[in-house]
Amino acid sequence: MTVQHIETIPSVPGNHNLQSYESAYRSFRWEEAEKHFTWHRTGKCNMAYEAIDRHAEGALANKVALIYEDDDRKESYTFEQLSKLSNRFGNMLKGLGIGQGERIFFFMPRTPEVYVGIMGTLKIGAIVGPLFEAFMESAVTDRLSDAEAVAIVTTSKLKHRIPRDRLPHLKHVIIVDEQTEWQPGEVDFHVAMAQSSEELDITWVDREHPLILHYTSGSTGKPKGVLHVHGAMVQHYLTGKWVLDLRDDDIYWCTADPGWVTGTSYGIFAPWLNGATNLVRGGRFSPERWYRTIQDHKVTVWYSAPTAFRMLMAAGDETVDAYDLSSLRHILSVGEPLNPEVIRWGMKVYGRRIHDTWWMTETGAHMIVNFPAMDIRPGSMGKPLPGIEAAIIDDRGNLLPPNRLGNLAIRTGWPSMMRAIWNNPSKYEEYFRLSGWYVSGDSAYMDEDGYFWFQGRVDDVINTSGERVGPFEVESKLVEHPAVAEAGVIGKPDPIRGEIIKAFIALREGYAETSELLEEIRVFVRNGLSAHAAPREIEVLGKLPKTRSGKIMRRVLKAQELGLPTGDLSTIDD
Ligand code: WT7
Repeated sequence: MTVQHIETIPSVPGNHNLQSYESAYRSFRWEEAEKHFTWHRTGKCNMAYEAIDRHAEGALANKVALIYEDDDRKESYTFEQLSKLSNRFGNMLKGLGIGQGERIFFFMPRTPEVYVGIMGTLKIGAIVGPLFEAFMESAVTDRLSDAEAVAIVTTSKLKHRIPRDRLPHLKHVIIVDEQTEWQPGEVDFHVAMAQSSEELDITWVDREHPLILHYTSGSTGKPKGVLHVHGAMVQHYLTGKWVLDLRDDDIYWCTADPGWVTGTSYGIFAPWLNGATNLVRGGRFSPERWYRTIQDHKVTVWYSAPTAFRMLMAAGDETVDAYDLSSLRHILSVGEPLNPEVIRWGMKVYGRRIHDTWWMTETGAHMIVNFPAMDIRPGSMGKPLPGIEAAIIDDRGNLLPPNRLGNLAIRTGWPSMMRAIWNNPSKYEEYFRLSGWYVSGDSAYMDEDGYFWFQGRVDDVINTSGERVGPFEVESKLVEHPAVAEAGVIGKPDPIRGEIIKAFIALREGYAETSELLEEIRVFVRNGLSAHAAPREIEVLGKLPKTRSGKIMRRVLKAQELGLPTGDLSTIDD
């Protein structure tokens, strides 16, 4: 492959927290960053202490930690207030008999209760399991039962998607809003909070103690529970400082939901470990509301995703011009490739660079990024964080030279690396099959100057609007429909969403293809899994291409869809 990079957007000189990437990369040791935390001396730690209580006990006690707004609520909380509220929540859980290591899920819109609850859960050493509110019954059931969750925090509207009769471990359903009829096992959040003390002896844990369980999709099987530990805070803190470039007077807005790792690592931990004011916006996306949020709160650091930037771009430059966005100092993106076109547009309308960052649920924190003090090559993810060794390797683990496409891999052993796949040690080990490396499942190349360029997923995982969807979960739901005999699901490139979900199905005998039936099938997936997992396109085939061992050949479906050569068909069944 010959690659030529002509386009460079230089960094704007300024007081960046990381001034010289090259020298930091050469000399950095994780032990240095650890000295920031008290557990460097005690050996014990707690994420919630470092993120909230430490500030509440010190000079930042009355600083605003959380600004919350949606179309109905506008609130703010200081570090001291969050400390007391999360103490109350921790005491509430203790009162229910919940202790260290148990799993508490959050299944609700991102209101302040989620942030209070997550911190309170961590304070007693229990494990947080965040879920998107968009999940429907079977998605919720799979995750809660895999994790054997004992409690869930939810709303009166969403609780109907939690089938308690199928979840024997689930003892408590904590409801955060008003309802008239209470079922056994349901806890009134507001009543229980009022009855709980705001003093709590925090549970000090080892840095290897479990913190959070994020379910994410793989190409086969059920979603995987990616487990992170309290010690990840070292990397959350450091990347908050160097990559988000957080300063004392920042108003920081990460647009991600805590159901997704970006919404916890960078929507909760990194900003608060750095003592920053963290803005959370609930409610739906709209370009006008988003820009108004930036304008009204004078947001300075803004972390979002390519799909959002593309929707903002589609809304037109006049929309940008209608608002005062001059407070913005630093803009970042994650989730899927950030198109050079979007960066160029960002330069035009925001007058600033959008900094791409690459990482995954499994890596827990940033891996390869564009630092503020670094030249950007539009289309490149940037360079590895100091302390991170990234490489392009072949399928046997050999290093490949620059400009050769291969597996993007990271040398094992960074602080925020996942520590387990819940209940599934063999899945975990698959990531580390090449000795000494974490194999990401992404393919990429590195240019001569050490910039990394993302090329795609090597497996079949679909990335739609920045969210990972496993084709298998969608296929399984499709074949639950009485009309569907078999199904193959692919990601089809889409200018706004990155990829859309396209399903190929074969119908059972006695069913004929009609637009009503296809719509019914789409709604079936939507109601069973979630809106973002519902196929936007469904095509009926007589028969799906399969290997002799019966595996659906999604790559053949994809190649045919895109009009590309289908490649090696030696394993296909007739
Ligand atoms: C997958 C991880 C950790 C938050 C992001 C989503 C893709 C992520 C980029 C980027 C190109 C990206 C990769 C990765 N991805 N960031 N900057 N450029 N692709 O987390 O749901 O675990 O998905 O998202 O394919 O493997 P996730």
